[in-house]
Amino acid sequence: MKKLFLIKQYLIYLWNAKSAHGVHSPFVFQFINEVLKDKRQYYFFEEIKKVRNEMYRDNTVLQIEDFGAGSHKQNQTRRVVKDIARTAGRNEKFGELLFRLVNQYQPKCILELGTSMGLGTAYLATANKSAQVHTIEGSPEIAAQAGKHFAKLQLQNITQHVGNFDDVLVSILEQLQSVDLLFVDGNHRKAPTVAYFETAKPFLHANSVVIFDDIHWSAEMHEAWQLIKSDSMVTLTIDLFYFGIVFFQREIQEPQHFVLRF
Ligand SMILES: C[S@@+](CC[C@H](N)C(=O)[O-])C[C@H]1O[C@@H](n2cnc3c(N)ncnc32)[C@H](O)[C@@H]1O
Repeated sequence: MKKLFLIKQYLIYLWNAKSAHGVHSPFVFQFINEVLKDKRQYYFFEEIKKVRNEMYRDNTVLQIEDFGAGSHKQNQTRRVVKDIARTAGRNEKFGELLFRLVNQYQPKCILELGTSMGLGTAYLATANKSAQVHTIEGSPEIAAQAGKHFAKLQLQNITQHVGNFDDVLVSILEQLQSVDLLFVDGNHRKAPTVAYFETAKPFLHANSVVIFDDIHWSAEMHEAWQLIKSDSMVTLTIDLFYFGIVFFQREIQEPQHFVLRF
């Protein structure tokens, strides 16, 4: 059922998605040419790829908590690193997009909800080594595994937080005071997704960028994305099917929503 929903959403996306040709907003035109279409290959892409390939062969068994139900009483399961690596993170294309987003908008304070094996975090952190990247993971053994990957990549600008988003997000936001880039990539359900956005909003500013993963993954996530798009603080959104990117620039008078080919 979920798969059918996803396929239908993807077909709708393909039908609606525009290229630079049909876009009149100078900001979005620049986004397409300088972020989406940037084909430069950076040294770090190869380094992260090596870690990814090692993970695909890693048979380490982890005891993990399943946060999918969003409750405080998680089910414990055992999972192999290579299986988590194959299912939890986005592919290289979207990882490299995270890198290019940081490269383009130069956020100084980045917060990621959902570390998993740390690949997304690594792309965010390598794009600007003077940025501080904070990442939250609920499962201690997963967080420890990600920590090993950060050490391998010699990344010094990452602070890991271990805890359920529901318990730790507010205090982390209060500690950071202002977030320039927020990547929401965990607990992909409607109510928590909207709640994390609402919680983070007071800590965002006109130049902040928020990225949501899996915006069409389920009917609930699709609804969450519609709610986020209609938020009064949001002035521009970009739908890339998997990622939904949100901007808040005040100079944009009428909210604009784009579906772009990627
Ligand atoms: C899709 S994965 C993150 C992938 C990662 N951002 C990347 O780009 O490689 C989601 C992660 O969020 C964690 N997670 C989900 N719900 C959570 C919650 N309520 N609190 C803390 N962590 C949670 C899961 O344990 C999982 O490791």
